[in-house]
Amino acid sequence: MKKQFSSIVLIAFVLFTQSFHAQHPHLTLDPVLESKISQLLAKMSLEEKVGQTCQITLDALLATDATGKVLEPLKIDPIKLKEAIVSQRIGSILNVSSHTLKMEEWRTIMQAVHAPFREGIVKAPILYGADAIHGVNYTVGGTLFPQEIGLAATWNRDLAEQFGRVTAYELRASGIPWNFSPVMDLGRQPLWSRYFETLGEDPYLVAEMGKRIIAGYQGTSLSDKYSTLSCLKHFVGYSFPLSGRDRTPAWIPENYMQELFLPPFKATVDAGALSVMVNSGEVNGIPGHQNQYLLTEILKEKWGFKGFAVSDWEDIIMLETVHTTAANQKAAIVSAINAGLDMSMVPNSPQYKEYTLLLKEAVEESSVSMTRLDDAVRRILRAKYLLGLFENQTYPLEQYGDFSSEKFKSVAKQAAAESVTLVKNTNNLLPLKKGQKILVAGPTADNLIYLNGAWSHTWQGVDTAYNTKGCSTVLEAIQQVNGAKNTLFSKAVSLNYVDGWESCSTTDIKDFDKKACKSDVIVLCLGELPATEKPGDIRSLDLPKEQMELVERALATKKPVILVLLEGRPRIIHDVVANTSAILQAYLPGDYGADAISGILFGDINPSGKLPYSYPKYSGVIEHYDLKKSEMRSGKTNQFDAYDPEWNFGFGLSYSTFAYSAIRVDKTTFVGKDSIVVSVDVKNTSSIKGKEVVQLYVTDLVSSTATWGKRLKNYTKIELAPDEVKTVNFVLSEKDIMFVGRENNWTSESGEFEINIGSQRKRINYIK
Ligand code: BGC
Repeated sequence: MKKQFSSIVLIAFVLFTQSFHAQHPHLTLDPVLESKISQLLAKMSLEEKVGQTCQITLDALLATDATGKVLEPLKIDPIKLKEAIVSQRIGSILNVSSHTLKMEEWRTIMQAVHAPFREGIVKAPILYGADAIHGVNYTVGGTLFPQEIGLAATWNRDLAEQFGRVTAYELRASGIPWNFSPVMDLGRQPLWSRYFETLGEDPYLVAEMGKRIIAGYQGTSLSDKYSTLSCLKHFVGYSFPLSGRDRTPAWIPENYMQELFLPPFKATVDAGALSVMVNSGEVNGIPGHQNQYLLTEILKEKWGFKGFAVSDWEDIIMLETVHTTAANQKAAIVSAINAGLDMSMVPNSPQYKEYTLLLKEAVEESSVSMTRLDDAVRRILRAKYLLGLFENQTYPLEQYGDFSSEKFKSVAKQAAAESVTLVKNTNNLLPLKKGQKILVAGPTADNLIYLNGAWSHTWQGVDTAYNTKGCSTVLEAIQQVNGAKNTLFSKAVSLNYVDGWESCSTTDIKDFDKKACKSDVIVLCLGELPATEKPGDIRSLDLPKEQMELVERALATKKPVILVLLEGRPRIIHDVVANTSAILQAYLPGDYGADAISGILFGDINPSGKLPYSYPKYSGVIEHYDLKKSEMRSGKTNQFDAYDPEWNFGFGLSYSTFAYSAIRVDKTTFVGKDSIVVSVDVKNTSSIKGKEVVQLYVTDLVSSTATWGKRLKNYTKIELAPDEVKTVNFVLSEKDIMFVGRENNWTSESGEFEINIGSQRKRINYIK
């Protein structure tokens, strides 16, 4: 009996460990896999190991004309391929050349790049990576979702995971097992051109949504044919440039790094992400790619990250040429690899050959130890094994019958519908009655590029030639619901670049005036040209004056004016807010965004998006909702009322109304590792079904460092039928009242805390 019992215990233990390994390969190493990697490493030459750490771009393999221009349709040049994969033993490839490709083209590329491994010429398979950051944006037919800022506005964890699942499936269908996503950078600098790639300003919301995106990408097993490896970007501090411009210095003191910028990365490392991409910029004077403290001490040693760190584009080269923290390329390579970088996105030719040569020399000269190189290669091979690439580099296309399916599109539609945020609706102008005369105007009304933003079919997303067939622009979606004859259109303002800077020009304004007079309602679609990275740098957060003047012109007609904002970052519109009847913040909602916008305008969809950031009122006053009391003091009133955004973080209207009542706790004091249950009743007090995001904030009343304002500690999105009441329970524990103290470590202190959910408040005590 005892023997039987111990066998049961043993089997249970083995099963537990196996499933634990399967689910948490990032936390514990599987000894069987590690010994397999050791055996492979032992057989690898120095050149082969160095090659594993090198990533090149697809362009480096493509046939070109005599001037070096890539030939269309793309064709792999067999000589370049042989040189890169066989001679230089390159381990990884990225990207797409310049535009979206057909599925068959991807498959042909994969066939070619995997041939040397399949034929036994090289020892490890290629790890191919791409930026499928809001869906599979480089394969014709890929399902395009809202950009991350819009996904965050859904506050819907399940949707984040479904987005991840669909994207992983379609990326793997294209033969690509590694997604350079999600961006875990905190969106606290709205001037930054990549603000739309973030999940907003709050570390908790970013972490919660990020964890579920990763659950979607990686599934229960990375080796599954529908899973992809995720890549946390851009470790860390990249999103907070002082100047607002891309890849410029960030100043982040250690306590704020710990408190704000690191937690989303930590949460997603714990959730199983096995690669990170490094910050191209510098933090406190140290380039991300040389930051040994962050890459090795924090990420790998303190957090136990078992994945690998890949550089961003040409960033080792830039240590010499931009940051000038290395005198030459070899010094740059040595400093980056020794700081903890495992793979270099070099990525062009002939630079990659210089990289492999110099890294080899550096190891031979012992300026990079063999132990460090082995560690880097082991981390990369681990990911390749876990992805099952040694057995299957790609799977037959027949196994991807859901690619571009209605099933997948409906998830993207749902995400768009739940992201669009209604921030103003004076006298319940919305929803609109169908069949009125509506003028749809403005620069972003008539093209899909304004819905998708950058990283859509092309890097900057401005080339309209690749737009998804069959998806509607805002104008078309409104016409479909309101009838083409009732819907007028006038572009009135165009967006373009002048000398590389965003610019607007007013076009046929008389046409606008004429149509405005004939309309009952004016819908103005405003916003930004798609852009990311350096091309997306702007000079001011103010919405360009031509667009503001268009709003003034529309308001002068005295007709109700509705603004639809298609923008990656909150552009300042304060001067026209008061007189505008309704405003929808649509972010960059993707290919199905227009259906969501018209669905909300006409009441077929009840809005439920909530701002994932504080929408600023003035370009000179950028505030975050968790600001400290000292920041709230007004020099005019001498009161603590200076926090004055246009709209609050977490704000968003619905066509339903909700009432919060009866906040209660299961105890008023909790101790040590104990927890406390906070409950609140939420009632739909309207006659239509709606979704509400119930948000729990905690304010520390006294702490030994200047106390933060209220901070989001939990939330849930619920749906309520008319008159329905639901009780929402949240569990709070010590982690929810912790902060980074004077020693720059997370700590808790005994004291009193205020909990705030909707209109409800409650005080509780914690005893350490
Ligand atoms: C961007 C990364 C991206 C990489 C590969 C870089 O310029 O900063 O976010 O993943 O290119 O396309």
